[in-house]
Amino acid sequence: MINEVRLFQNQHGAVTSAPLPAEMPIEPTLDSYGRRINYLRISLTDACNLRCVYCMPEEMHFRPRHELMTDEELLYLVQVAASLGVNKIRLTGGEPTIRPNIVELVRGIAQTPGIKDLAMTTNALLLAKLAKPLAAAGLKRVNISIDTLDSDKFHRITRWGHIDDVWRGIEAAEAAGLRPIKLNSVVVRHFNDDQDMVELARLTLDHEWEVRFIEMMPFGEISDFQQTNVVSYAEMRSRIEAHFGPLEEVGYDYVDPSRPFRIPGARGTLGFISSVTEPFCQGCGRVRLTADGKLRLCLLRDDEVDLLTPLRNGATFNEVRALMRDGAYHKPWGHGLAQGVFAHNRAMNQIGG
Ligand code: GTP
Ligand code: 5AD
Ligand code: SF4
Repeated sequence: MINEVRLFQNQHGAVTSAPLPAEMPIEPTLDSYGRRINYLRISLTDACNLRCVYCMPEEMHFRPRHELMTDEELLYLVQVAASLGVNKIRLTGGEPTIRPNIVELVRGIAQTPGIKDLAMTTNALLLAKLAKPLAAAGLKRVNISIDTLDSDKFHRITRWGHIDDVWRGIEAAEAAGLRPIKLNSVVVRHFNDDQDMVELARLTLDHEWEVRFIEMMPFGEISDFQQTNVVSYAEMRSRIEAHFGPLEEVGYDYVDPSRPFRIPGARGTLGFISSVTEPFCQGCGRVRLTADGKLRLCLLRDDEVDLLTPLRNGATFNEVRALMRDGAYHKPWGHGLAQGVFAHNRAMNQIGG
C-alpha cells in the first residue's frame, strides 16, 4: 500500500525509506497548460570545484550538509517523481561529481522503476576517475561545460580551472560509452565571444558531439553582470555562419532547450540555447529538485514547493506525492525576463540549470 510507506529515523538519526511496493502505479502528470511533466533535474549539491563567472560570485557560501537531502531522502523523492510519470532525470549541481557516494546514488536512481534516461551535467574535472564507474552504475550520458578551448581564457572564465582536466574527462566519458556527448558553452561578452565559438564549433567537423552555445541567463546577485554581457542567439549564429557558411537545420523537437544545426558535412551538430531572446517554454516538461529538497517549478522563477521538510516531519508517500503533483500542476507558463522579472532567491549553482 503506497500510502502507508513512510521514512524512518534509524538510531543515528539518519532517515531511511521503507521498501516501496514492487508494482507502483505510474500516473502521468500534466501542468495546468497541458504540458506533460516528465523530466526532473536534481541538484545534488550547491558546491563546486570551479567558480565560473556566469554562475556564481567567487566568494560563495555553500549550504551546510544537514540542510541537504540525504541519499535516502533523494532516492525516496525520485520514487515519488517516478510514480508521477517522471522518466528522465538529469543530475546537476553545483558540480554533481563532488557529491560523496555519487556512484551508489546513480545506481539507486538508475534502478528506480520508471526511470529510462539518466544523465548528468558536469564540468568533467573528475570524469577521468568517475566516468567508468558511473556508466557501470547506470548513467547513460553527460553534458560537459567547456566555454573555450584556450587554456588561459578557460582559467579566466572558470577562475580556477585547467582545461587539460576537461579533455581527460571528455576522453574518459567517450571511452565509458557515455553517449551522446554534448558540450555546453555559455557565451559571455569579452570572455569567449570571439574566435572561441569558431574553435568549439570546429570540433563538430570530426566528432559526433553536439556543441551548444548558450545565452547567459540572469540570477540573483550577479544578474547585472549577466545581463550586461549576454550574447544573443542571433549574434552567435551569425558569427558561426560568417566562418562556416549557412548552417543546416536538424529537426527541432521543441522539447529540448537546444535548437540543433549542422555545419554541412560535419559529423556532429551545433545547438543554440536561446533562453533570453527566444524562450522555449511552450514545450517545457521540466521541474527541478534543489539540493535542499525544494521542487522548483521554473528555472527562472522563484516559485518552489518544500518537499524535504514535510518528508522529515513524517509525511506519507501519498502526502509527498500530492505536494509534488500539485506543485507540478502549478508550474508557471514561462519566465518573465522580457517583463523584467528575475529569479532572486538562488544563484545558478543552487539550481543546476
Ligand atoms: P538534454 O537536452 O537532456 O541533453 O539536457 P539540457 O540541455 O536540458 O541540459 P543542460 O544541463 O546541459 O543545460 C544546458 C543549458 O540549458 C543550461 O544553460 C541550462 O540552464 C539550460 N536549460 C536547461 N533546461 C532549461 C529550461 O528549462 N529553461 C531554460 N531557460 N534553460 C534551460
Ligand atoms: N546562464 C546560462 N547557462 C548557465 N550555466 C551556468 N550558469 C549559467 C547562466 N547564468 C550552464 C553551465 C552548465 C549548465 C548546467 O548551465 O555552463 O553547462
Ligand atoms: Fe521551462 Fe521555465 Fe525554462 Fe521556460 S524558463 S523553459 S518554463 S524552466
